[in-house]
Amino acid sequence: MIRDLTELMARRNWSQTQVARAIGKSPTVINQYLHGKYPGDMASLERDIAALIKREADKEKGKRLTVAFVRTYTATRCLEVIRLAHLDCDINVIFGDAGMGKTMIMRQYALENPGAILLEADPGYTARVVLEEICARLGLNRRGNMHELSDGIIGALRDSGRVLLIDEAENLPLRALEVIRRIHDKAGIGVVLAGMPRLIINLKGKRGELKQLYSRVGFALALGDVLPRQDIDEIAASVLDDAQDPAVGEALFTASRGNARRLFKLLRGVHRHSQLNGVPVNAGAVRKFSEMLIN
Ligand SMILES: Nc1ncnc2c1ncn2[C@@H]1O[C@H](COP(=O)(O)OP(=O)(O)O)[C@@H](O)[C@H]1O
Ligand SMILES: [Mg+2]
Repeated sequence: MIRDLTELMARRNWSQTQVARAIGKSPTVINQYLHGKYPGDMASLERDIAALIKREADKEKGKRLTVAFVRTYTATRCLEVIRLAHLDCDINVIFGDAGMGKTMIMRQYALENPGAILLEADPGYTARVVLEEICARLGLNRRGNMHELSDGIIGALRDSGRVLLIDEAENLPLRALEVIRRIHDKAGIGVVLAGMPRLIINLKGKRGELKQLYSRVGFALALGDVLPRQDIDEIAASVLDDAQDPAVGEALFTASRGNARRLFKLLRGVHRHSQLNGVPVNAGAVRKFSEMLIN
């Protein structure tokens, strides 16, 4: 048992303190244990340590499931909309529910096209932050007022043939959207905004303040809140061989409700279960596991 614990610690690069914390004991106890000098209730301590080792081993098995990007029908359509913005220097929009694959697609485009500048907005993204982020990407000085930053960016991007991709753009306040429109207009570069459905409402401006921006949008691709069955099948089959079984595919589609994020959680859960028990994944296991997912 001491050996198993030392192995785990080496694998994870864990200190004695980290082990102690994980099982709710003091570092001294762990140190004594590792030196074969623990004076307390050995059986009870070893039970806790065995449980920790088992838990960590289970985690490692479950973790083996990784997703690589799959060029589904939805992904292909989105990539095309991004490419058009890039080629035609338009502003295009992709909107849909969480878990439709927007972030993965934006990252994939950026990976395949080094000229793309990808920003992932969060609720703290003010106009100033947007400008500073773009400056950072372009290696420009971030000091100066907003106008100076904006002009610097426009100078650097004009006729560059680059494209600006902004994910989670529903987080951008009106002023940030205006800043982006100005860069698009003056530098003549393509822009893609991806986000949740309320992005479209924001783009119009609650009182129509952003008419200028909205009128510039070329394509607005609506992904809705359910991916096609074929997409779900392809993603599932790419990570789990058992998903090729039509009954499993059917169960996965139903249980995922066409949502790729939910699908991934299901896949990870049933995969782990099947690994631990040495049994193939079946439709029953998918349904059982889906009952445990909150959303
Ligand atoms: N094209 C795809 N190929 C493989 N997995 C995907 C794909 N699209 C989505 N997924 C899965 O769904 C999860 C959620 O996708 P994400 O891009 O974060 O969605 P969104 O940004 O629309 O909320 C991903 O982490 C991945 O597991
Ligand atoms: Mg996302």
